[in-house]
Amino acid sequence: MGDYVNITDVTGRDGFQMEKDWIETQDKIDVINSIVYSGVKRVEVTSFVSPNAIPQLKDARQVIEKIQENNIEIIALVPNMIGAENAIDANVDGINVVISISETHNKKNINKTVEESLLEIAEINRFAKKNNTAINIGLGTTFGCPYEGLYEVDKVVNVIKRLMEEGINNFNLADTTGMANPLQITHFVNTVKSLFPDAQFSLHLHNTRGLGVVNLYAGYKAGIRNFDAALGGIGGCPFAPKATGNVCLEDIVHMFELMGVYTGIHTRKIIESAKKLEKVLGYKLHGQVMKSGLAVGTYKND
Ligand code: COA
Ligand code: ZN
Repeated sequence: MGDYVNITDVTGRDGFQMEKDWIETQDKIDVINSIVYSGVKRVEVTSFVSPNAIPQLKDARQVIEKIQENNIEIIALVPNMIGAENAIDANVDGINVVISISETHNKKNINKTVEESLLEIAEINRFAKKNNTAINIGLGTTFGCPYEGLYEVDKVVNVIKRLMEEGINNFNLADTTGMANPLQITHFVNTVKSLFPDAQFSLHLHNTRGLGVVNLYAGYKAGIRNFDAALGGIGGCPFAPKATGNVCLEDIVHMFELMGVYTGIHTRKIIESAKKLEKVLGYKLHGQVMKSGLAVGTYKND
């Protein structure tokens, strides 16, 4: 087999959390199952957060219970120990614990200082390990913060170092509000990969300023093989001003397949999922390939 990438779908979590109008639980389930049906193997289905913070995801448990598990990894985002307990009780395969590099964003998002979050994550890590649940840390605002601006990679390195001391080695570098540029991605990824060779890094990129895919490509060239994406490019953080969508899942599947990079995802089926989502949400999505069709008709996974 040639080169490959693993794409985690975050439509159910990052995507739906940004939708103001209530999405019926059954519609959420149908969209996520259709994503799974297209071949996505790792799905961040929902969050176990306060229903006051994100009312849209208050049906987390009901959604998780109805996702057709067939050798797929079911992940939920959690902000604290209560979330971790609820997620593990709902039988997830892994938790994505969120912490922001920026103090201001961490406070606005989860009402804690970075230090308080680090201490709580150490506890969550012990709890997850005891329950045989995979743990991944979502490092929000890695590439800059809408409140604090841009910062040096050292700020990110310090947080990763603390978490690695706790025996955690999976990190999702998140450009929460699309502030990264491709050269910065190259620099940050090269730095953390060389300082922490035992860690696994994935990228979570937003297309806020039209740089999502080019940033993703920079990450790929720097050796990242795990990426998050959402159907139709929906999503964003409700606790960051002017946040907009994730990199678009079906568009990047199309890109990688054109490049001969294996995704394991069926291009036409994932485009059908995006169209299904568009019907559910009732407005035009940002996806390009769902409108323009495939560049060429023949794909290895077609
Ligand atoms: N799930 C459900 N309820 C939770 C919870 C969780 N993970 N964590 C706390 N709560 C409940 C508490 O039980 C308490 O309930 P009560 O009022 O009935 O006693 C209430 O929420 C307040 O608890 P507290 O610990 O004081 O929380 P807070 O008000 O400081 O809020 C968070 C902190 C983390 C719960 C909240 O900010 C949050 O859910 N943030 C998530 C943000 C998010 O999802 N952002 C996008 C993804 S990056
Ligand atoms: Zn995001």
